[in-house]
Order: sequence, then C-alpha cells, then structure tokens
Amino acid sequence: FDGSLPVISDPGTKQALLEAAQIIRDTDETVAFPTETVYGLGGSSLNDQSVRNIYKAKNRPSDNPLISHISSIDQLNRKIYSETGLDSSDILKNIPPSYHNLIEKLWPGPLTILLPVPPSNIHTLSKLTTADQPTFAVRIPSDPVARALIALSDTPIAAPSANASTRPSPTLASHVYHDLQGKIPLILDGGACKVGVESTVVDGLCTPPLLLRPGGFTYEDIVTIGGPFWKDCKVENMKTIKANEKVRTPGMKYKHYAPSAKVVLLQPTKDDDALEKQKAFRDIFRRETVEIPNLQKIAVLTTKYLDGISPAVLDDRKKYELLVKTLGQNGEEIQANLFAALREVDEEDKVDLIFVEGIPEEDEGLAVMNRLRKAAANNCIDF
Ligand code: TXA
Ligand code: MG
Repeated sequence: FDGSLPVISDPGTKQALLEAAQIIRDTDETVAFPTETVYGLGGSSLNDQSVRNIYKAKNRPSDNPLISHISSIDQLNRKIYSETGLDSSDILKNIPPSYHNLIEKLWPGPLTILLPVPPSNIHTLSKLTTADQPTFAVRIPSDPVARALIALSDTPIAAPSANASTRPSPTLASHVYHDLQGKIPLILDGGACKVGVESTVVDGLCTPPLLLRPGGFTYEDIVTIGGPFWKDCKVENMKTIKANEKVRTPGMKYKHYAPSAKVVLLQPTKDDDALEKQKAFRDIFRRETVEIPNLQKIAVLTTKYLDGISPAVLDDRKKYELLVKTLGQNGEEIQANLFAALREVDEEDKVDLIFVEGIPEEDEGLAVMNRLRKAAANNCIDF
C-alpha cells in the first residue's frame, strides 16, 4: 500500500471533505466520519483540546485510550514520530517486525496495532489519547472517505466510535445524529458501514502476541496471516474487572453496546432441528417474560433456527406485540447488521425486551458474540 490519496470525484463530497479536514487541522473541534467498520468521532491526535472534546461529546471515561487513524505509514513517521527525510527503505523502522506480515496484508483495513509511545523528545501525540498507557493504538482505515479526510488534513485522527458512551456503535450517519446532535459541528455521511463491527485490536509487543479485541478481521485471519503464535486473550476478557484495576484493554471494563431495552442473549450450545429449537425458545420466552411488569413490545433478532418463527408459536394469548427480524444468512451479514438492528428495535420500535439468537464463536462469530455479551450484560441463556 503506497498511501496514495483515494480518488474522490463527486464535487459535493470533495467540498464536505475539505471542510471537515480544515476543522481537524485548524481547530479544536471534532468531526464524525464513516470508516469501513463503524462511524468514528475524530479530532487531531496531536492536540490536547481536540482530544478533550472527543471525550466530552461522547461522555467517555478519560482512562479509555483512543485509536489514532493514519492514511499512510509515511504519515505516522512524519507526524507522530516527528521524523522527516526517511528514505522508503526504512519506512517500517518504527513498526516492530511482529506486525509486518499483518500490516502488509491487512492495511488499509480493520486492524489496529499497539506501538510503544515514542520517546518524549520526538513524539507529538497528545498524552490524552493514550490514557497513560505506555503504548498507543493506530490503524489505516480502508474506507475512501476516512482515508481522504486523514490525508487532506495531513493529521493523525484520534477517533473512538461516534456513539454516546455505553450505546451500540453507529453504522449509519443517522445513528451518530441520534446520539450526538448539538454536540459536534459536522457529520460526514458515507452511507452504511460495510463491516459493521469495530477493528480487530492486536498487541504484538507482548509474548505471546495477543488478539485484544475481536473485530473486522477474524482471529482465523490473524493466525493465517500473522502466524500460529498469535493468541486470543478471550480468557482474560471474561474475567470480571474491577473499576480501578489497570487492564490490558481499558475499554473492556465498561458497560458497552447497550440498548435501553433489556437484551437476552441465546448462546448456541448444540445443533438440533429447527422445530425442537423453536420449542425450547418458547419455554425460555415464557420464563423470561412472565416476571417483567408492563411488557408490551418484544423483538426477536434471529440468525438460524428462529428465522421466520411465528409470533403465534411464542405467545398464543397475544399479550405482546412481537417483532421478528433476521440479522442475516451468514456471519458477515449478521456482523454488518448487528448494531443497526439493535438500534432499530430499541430507538425506533421502542421495544421493552430484545431476544437475540447468538451464533457459534468462530470466524465472525467471535466478534459478534463479544459485542452481544456486553449488550446483554449478564442475561445470557444456553440455547
Ligand atoms: O473500528 C474501530 O476501531 C473504530 C473506528 C472508528 O476506527 N474505533 C473504535 O474506537 O472502535 P473505540 O475507542 O471505540 O475502541 C478502541 C479500543 C478500546 O477498547 C480501547 O480500550 C482500545 O481500543 N485501546 C486503545 N488504545 C489502547 C492501548 N494503548 N492499549 C490497549 N488498548 C487500547
Ligand atoms: Mg467504542
């Protein structure tokens, strides 16, 4: 990848990009922009006040560090390591070899790597982006609007997902508007995000190197491309983390991806025929609904056995209004629709309770179930 600027031919898009780039480069303000994963809320990684404004608009705890988005490795060297005149043969000198295969194949794309914070005499990164970690997170997004914005502003852009803290990440500009209207000056609308979950965060500085957050690239992708020594820190993810504890991925300890409605996650156990599964769900449905007062509207988000289940099977007394929606036919579709579906039944349909049929934790299933467990808090039932 040579870091060249994506071609943007539409004049309206160009104008909007120039305006957004000017805000990032010359002001303390923030801008929401599309990436291939989810919408980001961006400000200059080099400017403390911009970073403060990101945390403020989202209401995000300031000990949860941000990813810096760059448009090329050359930009990383020039802007974050303050080095000029590197010849192209040593362009990778600030990036440890453990990452080389991964970034060669997966950048630009939904892969975030941790790098050591450069020595203080050369680095220009705002300390607020790293939340006191000895490392900082960085990625090159593949979305052309995102990359054009970063290249045009020629500024590394610190950007968390552009949702209000604790809410599902935004995959449409309207989600950002819903959460942040009145709090930020500009949203670049690039349509729906293709991947639908956040980037995969990896730490190649520790031994063994670890997958910290499953995301747009699967664990299988990381092992195939990065090598078999890459491990998944799922075990670490599952430990309960106390609020004041230092953890490897600070984002892990917070409430996350949560709609206002209660979410109940059905965790797949064994395969069975659809009829048996639907009967099992009817029992779960009755048990879970009986004790909640004032239940009126319930959503069921399906992935396999419950696709097209008839509301009459679940509730023959017609006590509730039931919405049944499928998340998709395969892992990629389910991943792409996940956050939008949670928001739709929560914010538009205003249901009181959401059942979600989970999927096996392989390929996209690892990231999907990671997000769903957080959305469901502790309401997970074997299914
Ligand atoms: O796809 C994405 O990654 C999106 C788009 C906008 O690029 N961004 C995103 O950012 O998801 P955010 O802030 O919602 O999630 C960043 C995650 C958090 O879990 C954070 O704790 C972790 O990356 N992180 C950031 N810097 C870190 C560091 N130095 N060490 C460990 N974890 C870090
Ligand atoms: Mg987030």
